[in-house]
Amino acid sequence: MARSPLQITRRSLADYLLGAGLAALAGTVFYPVLRYLIPPPVKEVTAGSVVAAKVGEMQPNSGKVFLFGGKPAILVRTPEGAYRAFSAVCTHLSCTVQYRAEIGHIWCACHDGHFDLNGHVLAGPPPRPLAAFGVTVKEDDIVVTRPA
Ligand code: FES
Repeated sequence: MARSPLQITRRSLADYLLGAGLAALAGTVFYPVLRYLIPPPVKEVTAGSVVAAKVGEMQPNSGKVFLFGGKPAILVRTPEGAYRAFSAVCTHLSCTVQYRAEIGHIWCACHDGHFDLNGHVLAGPPPRPLAAFGVTVKEDDIVVTRPA
């Protein structure tokens, strides 16, 4: 029995639709995988200063971790009421440090690294002091500034 041109067209259409469906399915599966494997470029934030806190927000002998240029930084209010700011990236293996009010140290929980309120290493494995930032009070804002 001979095929009519209309049957061939229907079969071709069915093949085309099946192929298109499979291509769409493959795209649905592989596109998210590709987006995961090749993440979009992240813009480097290079702000020279940031408002880390408001005046009155922090009690003496307290600390606050905030983001500065996309990286953690720490603002400490000393027991005497002065403000100090440092990179919160530990100089050992880059864990985020925190302030421990009960001992008055900046502390890294990863390997028990201790820093004083000038960022200097007191104990533990960190090889260098924390990078220090400038702090100024402008009206209601505590502004942290990266050194030039
Ligand atoms: S990462 Fe901070 S002490 Fe190891």
